[in-house]
Amino acid sequence: MDRIAITGGARLSGEIAISGAKNSAIKLMAASLLTDEPLRLTNMPRLADTRFLGALLRRLGTDVQEIDGESASETVLRTQEIVSAFAPYDLVRQMRASFNVLGPLLARSGHAKVSLPGGCEIGARPVDLHLMALRALGAQIELHEGYVYAQAPRGLTGARIEFPLSSVGATEHALLACVLARGETELVGAAREPEIVDLAACLNAMGAKVEGAGTDRIVVTGVARLSGATYAVAPDRIETGTYALAAAMAGGEVRLTHTRADLIESLLSKMEQAGVEIERRNDGLTVKRNGARLSPVDIETGTFPGFATDLQAQFMALMTLADGESVVRETIFENRFMHVPEMARLGADITVSGGEARVRGVARLEGAQVMATDLRASVGLVIAALAAQGETIVDRVYHLDRGFERLEQKLSACGAQVRRLSDREGAS
Ligand code: EPZ
Repeated sequence: MDRIAITGGARLSGEIAISGAKNSAIKLMAASLLTDEPLRLTNMPRLADTRFLGALLRRLGTDVQEIDGESASETVLRTQEIVSAFAPYDLVRQMRASFNVLGPLLARSGHAKVSLPGGCEIGARPVDLHLMALRALGAQIELHEGYVYAQAPRGLTGARIEFPLSSVGATEHALLACVLARGETELVGAAREPEIVDLAACLNAMGAKVEGAGTDRIVVTGVARLSGATYAVAPDRIETGTYALAAAMAGGEVRLTHTRADLIESLLSKMEQAGVEIERRNDGLTVKRNGARLSPVDIETGTFPGFATDLQAQFMALMTLADGESVVRETIFENRFMHVPEMARLGADITVSGGEARVRGVARLEGAQVMATDLRASVGLVIAALAAQGETIVDRVYHLDRGFERLEQKLSACGAQVRRLSDREGAS
């Protein structure tokens, strides 16, 4: 199992090009099941999660071609025919978002058998709202032995679907299912995250009629068929925020390109309050921090445009060195403080009580051996390590590979001392 070694203390200087968004790309790939024509996705990130979904789609009948040039990566997906409407546990377990093939399979072929994803490191993560939405569209759903058996032999029918809480995955799943339904669907209490806007824009490019994405009311007029399209995946807002925080933690000046500052405004305003300088530009942003200790700033995670839960661990890393106490409240997932004991190994002073962490800034962190627990927690440890004295080894790097493309290269290009240790190589 690979590990990453980071020697802290180097200031960062340079430019990082942000990749396409993982959490958009995997839903856009699933949209290819809705048409027999090719869907060409440009600005595609190459990640373990996109590979997992590619493997599942191939089993379902999709031809998946990855085309990588010097400066561009694209994936062309074509599902001429659904050859199997079965998504087995082994594949869904590896990546929960695979569950979202259920809606498109049902819409296109009238039936599907898809494994329930189960829980994960950050929480129980039920799928009751996904199933509620599909049932509202007329699907007959039964659960047996860990599988969802869904049928809609005469197709799905538009409906009014009211979500009792904002769910990104359930909103996306409802969208993927209802674009081919008969009549109109209204999604009330829909999630407003940029990934929903991205999915709706891609579906519209394929001929769907989706209005209101980005607000909490989305109206979809069903169409009989969708066509192929070419669509560019939006920039990854979590990767953008992560490198902004890395630059703030290490100090120096880093320009983030191929991205948009407005995707992470709630983070940027908190960073400015802490004392980090941010320059917003048309093609991204520049993050500068020179010398002085940062001020402590409280955050509470929330749905978009609130503070993203996927940036919580990284922001906490920054606060470990602030000049005073800050409070980090997690409101989206019940178990998203698994990085805390690992940050404590680096010398951070944090106490957790329920959904609240109190971070008392310390004068310095010290390198240690730590363990990655999930994707965003692990990159939080990498950020902490960038400012820790000495060497930190982050174990279980496969978590990072799920969502960060060429992390070591992107950070090293700005002067960070980061390298990957393969299985047999020891730490220096
Ligand atoms: C997406 O997860 C992202 N994953 C997560 O990123 C992200 O943290 C999350 O949205 C919030 O922004 C992908 O897009 C693949 P939710 P999702 O449904 O869709 C509860 C990462 O690291 N809920 O908005 O699963 C749920 O338990 C990942 O890239 C139900 O109760 O999130 C949670 O408390 C981690 N019933 C809340 O809603 C349901 O049927 C929000 O979850 C569905 C969700």
